[in-house]
Amino acid sequence: MNKFMIKPEIIFGEDSLNYLQGREYKKFLIVTDRSMVQLKLVDKIIEKLPKDSEIQIFSEVEPNPTVDVVEKGVKELFHFQPQCIIALGGGSSIDACKGILYFGNKLFESLGKENGNMEFIAIPTTSGTGSEVTSYSVITKGNSKIALAYDEMLPKVALLNPEFMKTLPKKIIADTGIDVLTHGMEAYVSQNRNPFTNAIALEAMKLIGANLLKHYENPKDLIPRENVQYASCLAGIAFNNSSLGINHSIAHSLGAKFHISHGRSNGIVMPYVIEVNDEAEELYGEIASQLGLPGETPQEKRKVLKIYVEMLKEKLEIPKSLKELGIDFEEFKRLIPEILKDIKNDICTTYNPNSLNDEEYVSLLLKIYFGE
Ligand SMILES: NC(=O)c1ccc[n+]([C@@H]2O[C@H](COP(=O)([O-])OP(=O)(O)OC[C@H]3O[C@@H](n4cnc5c(N)ncnc54)[C@H](O)[C@@H]3O)[C@@H](O)[C@H]2O)c1
Ligand SMILES: [Fe+2]
Repeated sequence: MNKFMIKPEIIFGEDSLNYLQGREYKKFLIVTDRSMVQLKLVDKIIEKLPKDSEIQIFSEVEPNPTVDVVEKGVKELFHFQPQCIIALGGGSSIDACKGILYFGNKLFESLGKENGNMEFIAIPTTSGTGSEVTSYSVITKGNSKIALAYDEMLPKVALLNPEFMKTLPKKIIADTGIDVLTHGMEAYVSQNRNPFTNAIALEAMKLIGANLLKHYENPKDLIPRENVQYASCLAGIAFNNSSLGINHSIAHSLGAKFHISHGRSNGIVMPYVIEVNDEAEELYGEIASQLGLPGETPQEKRKVLKIYVEMLKEKLEIPKSLKELGIDFEEFKRLIPEILKDIKNDICTTYNPNSLNDEEYVSLLLKIYFGE
């Protein structure tokens, strides 16, 4: 039996924040990070909430949120007991909020308390992880990342507003934008793909192809900014239903061990994964055609797609390899057994087109390190 789900209500457009005006709650908890407070993006939310409401801000989330942050947030949730919880930020804030809600609800249950069915609204400020429409949450424990997936973590409402992306630094536009392309690509070649996810993933990739560089070069231009936001959300819907692949499993491990941002580590890994996934040759060929790339046979098209990704990375100033990023080879070599373990334990590995053995993984990791 198969399932395709489009669950969160998606509120979008320049006036989408008006949705908050209609919330008839008295207690709101906003889960976010310090930059959102400093950049006054939190104020845009507060301005819209009912004047007489009690608002608590939990702004301790950091990139690649940890178990500790989730624990602190659960305490906050437990003491404040909000009626509505709003996650504002990139994937880190939204994922942390999901973890807080999930483990918070478990705590309420274990104590036999009512959790009051809090409304969960996710407002992304990066484009992005698509976390606003997924039931995934990626939490860092020690030097590993754990990808959790529970339907209970899916937001009730995803609120998209391009206004929040105006303050994004170029490096974050590059990293998060290449993450969207990885989501679309992994959803499209996944062994768990279906006609619904295919259509959505392709549209997301086409929007990225047409808009990411424009958005990177001119972050203040509304149309490309808005289109990259739609692409991010679409790719999230696609991979939430089809799952991802080893591009993400490898990026999760590398990101946690070498403190590389999620999108950047996915971007570094992507060309080498396209090359290793020969079981999906036809599908990569279809992606290349949809992106308007040249090539006659699927084999040629897959090669051209890899070159396209390499060129896009160059324009976005994303390093070719871990070596170029400055990672020490001895340290990398020492961690290979742990990286292998992480990849095998990652839920994203399940539906990757190719199943790799240890030797193939090591050879792939060395390519990712040396960039050849
Ligand atoms: N849940 C999912 O489905 C899913 C999918 C992919 C990745 N992830 C996870 O999401 C996290 C990465 O999220 P991300 O890439 O969105 O980055 P992020 O949330 O870690 O944010 C990166 C940096 O950008 C800043 N920032 C965010 N929005 C900004 C804005 N509008 N203006 C200025 N600065 C801004 C943040 O303060 C932070 O310093 C990782 O932990 C990754 O594992 C989750
Ligand atoms: Fe991702």
